[in-house]
Amino acid sequence: MTTWQLQLPLTAKPITRTQPDMPYRARFEDLLSGDLDFHGKSSTYASHDLHSFPAKFPPQLPRKFIEWLTDPEDRVLDPMVGSGTTILEAFLLGRRGIGFDIDPLALRLCKAKVTPAALKEVSETGYLILRGAERAITQERDSLIESLHHRFDDATQNFIDYWFLPETQVELTALIREIEKVQNVVTRDFLELVFSAIIITKSSGVSLARDLPHTRPHKINEKKPRSAITNFQRRLKKNLQSLGALAQGTGKITLLNGNAQALALQDNTVDLIVTSPPYAANAIDYMRAHKFSLVWFGHSVKELSKLRREYIGGEALTDIHLLEMPSFSQKIISSIASRDERKAKVLHRYYSEMTRSLSEMYRVLKPGKAAVVVVGTSTMRGMDTETQACLGEIGESVGFDLVDIAVRKLDRNKRMMPARRVTRPESQIEQRMHEEYVIGLRKPKT
Ligand SMILES: C[S@@+](CC[C@H](N)C(=O)[O-])C[C@H]1O[C@@H](n2cnc3c(N)ncnc32)[C@H](O)[C@@H]1O
Repeated sequence: MTTWQLQLPLTAKPITRTQPDMPYRARFEDLLSGDLDFHGKSSTYASHDLHSFPAKFPPQLPRKFIEWLTDPEDRVLDPMVGSGTTILEAFLLGRRGIGFDIDPLALRLCKAKVTPAALKEVSETGYLILRGAERAITQERDSLIESLHHRFDDATQNFIDYWFLPETQVELTALIREIEKVQNVVTRDFLELVFSAIIITKSSGVSLARDLPHTRPHKINEKKPRSAITNFQRRLKKNLQSLGALAQGTGKITLLNGNAQALALQDNTVDLIVTSPPYAANAIDYMRAHKFSLVWFGHSVKELSKLRREYIGGEALTDIHLLEMPSFSQKIISSIASRDERKAKVLHRYYSEMTRSLSEMYRVLKPGKAAVVVVGTSTMRGMDTETQACLGEIGESVGFDLVDIAVRKLDRNKRMMPARRVTRPESQIEQRMHEEYVIGLRKPKT
């Protein structure tokens, strides 16, 4: 095996179907009752680790359902694809993966993750970019600074001035200008991702923000960011290793910029859905963090702030359309309303958005097939939003059979979850924040 061949960890070996003639529903129940924690298993094989992304699920989770519930060439959908864990597993297993998201960074990331770019070319181009950027910094500094000032509108420039030191801005401009010259689109996409990964990273990112993918950005004035050039070089080396591992994927992937509440897919055409929606009430604010690299790719802060309103689970309450809820979900909303009307509306917004998403999942699934929805619950004014039970109930209200709601314990070392204030660590609610739920839904056969 060469270094660049696929190196799946032993734990990710294909599951043998010990009972291949087990009826579909029994198999689904079996999967939901089995181990869904996957603690101690690698989540960084193939290209899973190209770029940080909060609240990714472990690759073993979609893999398990894809292997047991679909056949090669079947269509596997993730309508909120995020960093692409589901579709990368579909790709590695020879399925046809379909991913939707509205987040421009998620879409870029997914594309790079499932596109086996030519390793030699990317590697050579990457090192040319480094040399070109270093040369520009030392020999064409004035023209670099000039081009930096013409790149952004005023609001975007203010954002950049607040979050990036002047020297970092010069280095990032030098790198992005070299990347923009690359003609081969696949190579350029990959290198843009390397660039983004040095900004949005758990530690030692090049902005003045702390732990960007994990928390809402907090500025640390005394932070001394590492050189963007050095970080680019390191990250390039790491990402090239991931790229080599993609060569063995045989699936076909379609990625679409689209809203999970209105999927551009025909009825009854999908064989399996594995997805994890955002948390309620913007607990993870994707756009706030992703803005840090998207501005360097030509997006303005104004345009990105507008897009932020479209994210499921947002907190804005103007121009929203609230739906009637089934009884338990309504009860939860009403009890939160007794403490905080506004928060209750935010939750109602979330459950309305998820009603539309689950209706779409139901519409596009083939009869008899499964949807796996992984969620965490939230607290509002000290009360549990019971997200798993509510989404199970909402799933039933749009026509699904609720097969089971399984619990998985989070590996706190791995999955980047919303930062929470721990008031009473021993409380039941706090315990639930260390768990998430795997909701098993099935579209009835007829
Ligand atoms: C929890 S993340 C998904 C993580 C994914 N399972 C993974 O492993 O990387 C939720 C995703 O939903 C996306 N999202 C939010 N609102 C959306 C919408 N209206 N339509 C489609 N995707 C949306 C976010 O951009 C984010 O990428």
